[in-house]
Amino acid sequence: MDFTGKIAIVTGASSGIGAATAKLLSQHGATLALVGRNEERLLDVAKQCAAAKGIQPLCLLLDLTIDVNCDEVVKKTVQTFKRIDVLINCAGKASVTSLYDTTMEIFDELIALNLRVPYKMTQASIPHLKKTKGSIVNVFGTPTKVRPGFLPFAMIRDALERFTKAGALELLDEGIRMNAVRPGITRTKLLSNLNVADEYMDHTYDNISKTVPNKKIIEPDEIARMVVYAASDMFPNLIGSSLIIDGAASAY
Ligand SMILES: NC(=O)c1ccc[n+]([C@@H]2O[C@H](COP(=O)([O-])OP(=O)(O)OC[C@H]3O[C@@H](n4cnc5c(N)ncnc54)[C@H](OP(=O)(O)O)[C@@H]3O)[C@@H](O)[C@H]2O)c1
Repeated sequence: MDFTGKIAIVTGASSGIGAATAKLLSQHGATLALVGRNEERLLDVAKQCAAAKGIQPLCLLLDLTIDVNCDEVVKKTVQTFKRIDVLINCAGKASVTSLYDTTMEIFDELIALNLRVPYKMTQASIPHLKKTKGSIVNVFGTPTKVRPGFLPFAMIRDALERFTKAGALELLDEGIRMNAVRPGITRTKLLSNLNVADEYMDHTYDNISKTVPNKKIIEPDEIARMVVYAASDMFPNLIGSSLIIDGAASAY
């Protein structure tokens, strides 16, 4: 795989799967626009990307749930690098909520980030991806059974699957490919954001791993390899696909 001369936007690049994807893309020669909110972590990822081939990424510290910030990512990327070849939609979070909650706050937050942002980022990037016959990869959860507290998260997964398939068809005539990579439980900061304290992290992952058929927690580097393959020119007929990588978690 060779991404030399290709410009890739990676959302969620300050952590977890997005960070691993950014680092791998940089090793394959890509020039990167990295998006996140945590400055220290984003700059650290950028430093590691720059170390791979000496190409300095553009770092954009922006909250993507604000529409104009998605436009800003595209604008700044094109101003700086003149084109966009790849969009990796990886920013996301999990939160616990249920029908028994009395407000829509968490539901709305989940929709705003996990569903609305990939749609908006795609919309904003299309004029540039058309010119390069580019590629989009959406990262969202594997289709496992709905765990208690994760109903909106599961609804969003289903919506993103439809988005990936129908979006791919809509983009086909422009030569833009859209696919999805759908990980099972992966070792990232997702659990910290669910308020699991650092000292309980290993224990929590141990417990979760017992619920996965192959009893493993996935490392972000493995998911990143799949994302980079999907984004590359290696599979020109990979269009509208969901690449599930979950230790058979969705096989029940
Ligand atoms: N880890 C898993 O087990 C798993 C399983 C299935 C699917 N996924 C999906 O994989 C994707 C990546 O998650 P991850 O596991 O790598 O989680 P992570 O380590 O928590 O990373 C989440 C990323 O999203 C960014 N982000 C969050 N809110 C944002 C906002 N408002 N604006 C801009 N960026 C924002 C974070 O940036 P800052 O921290 O800088 O704000 C961070 O870079 C998510 O869509 C997640 O749903 C993860």
